Amino acid sequence: MSDILNDKRWQIVQEDCIEHMATMPEHSVDMSVFSPPFPSLFAYTNSECDIGNSEDFAGDAKLHLAFFFHQFIRVLKPGRVAIIHCQQIPGLKRNGELSTIDFRGLLIRLAKRAGFVYETDWPITKNPQVQAIRTRSTKLQFAALERDRAVSAPAFNDYLIKLRAPGANAVPITENNLTRNEWINWAEGVWDWQQIRQTDTLNTQEGKGEEDTKHICPLQLPVIKRVVRLYTNPDEIVFSPFTGIGSEGYVSLSLGRRFYGCEIKNEYIAAARKNLKKAEQSEAGQLALFECGHE
Ligand SMILES: C[S@@+](CC[C@H](N)C(=O)[O-])C[C@H]1O[C@@H](n2cnc3c(N)ncnc32)[C@H](O)[C@@H]1O
Repeated sequence: MSDILNDKRWQIVQEDCIEHMATMPEHSVDMSVFSPPFPSLFAYTNSECDIGNSEDFAGDAKLHLAFFFHQFIRVLKPGRVAIIHCQQIPGLKRNGELSTIDFRGLLIRLAKRAGFVYETDWPITKNPQVQAIRTRSTKLQFAALERDRAVSAPAFNDYLIKLRAPGANAVPITENNLTRNEWINWAEGVWDWQQIRQTDTLNTQEGKGEEDTKHICPLQLPVIKRVVRLYTNPDEIVFSPFTGIGSEGYVSLSLGRRFYGCEIKNEYIAAARKNLKKAEQSEAGQLALFECGHE
């Protein structure tokens, strides 16, 4: 197969994805699913190209992401699908905001400006009790409810933004044995946390660096499984510009697709390579079907 993978099933490149995508051939990937770094919320490295280190949503964060989409649209085949997983960003002392920052809206606006077609998004609900414990957010606590309900507010959802590259899709996506019942379930406009469990992820411990104060939030495997089955044919190339510990690659390989990724942090690359080797050794489909649960 003479394409960007040169006969390999997968490759992870250690480079800033914005710079690397500029060197990738045009229209070289069939689909993309990823979680971008969330500016001002999680910093993964001390590198200046780590988008997690940008703080200003009208300044450096916006600029980084604008450059990102400008390159990203080049590498995706016409008519094909990109799924971006994101969440809204709370106003914090660190980002100087009182209001919640509309990160989802920013991503959609920048993607459209680069030429993408924005089609829809799936909110994924979150268990409010788990979120209250994890984030210690005042708005979710009983104390706020009892002291002053003006500050009480529901849990943040995750979102999957669906974009299409402009142009006609040359190879229809028809394989996969996707059943009508699966589509009835997945076509619902909101995906429920009881089906997409927050803990259904790869193990994050291996990617932890010695000086890390925060660890990575890997994308839930059932989310990846649904969108890879929906939007690729077997053997096609799934791309994650922000590979992390390799969740998107792990599911893609397990489902008989190929994978191409970029990541800047050494520890995550090592963990991702290990995870992808594990998926490669599994029978196609078996690992992901087992670990993502049956739907
Ligand atoms: C939200 S995490 C992705 C997690 C991934 N979906 C998984 O499940 O493992 C974002 C990742 O982007 C990486 N990153 C940040 N800036 C980057 C850049 N400019 N190029 C490539 N990777 C970058 C971070 O190191 C981090 O691993």
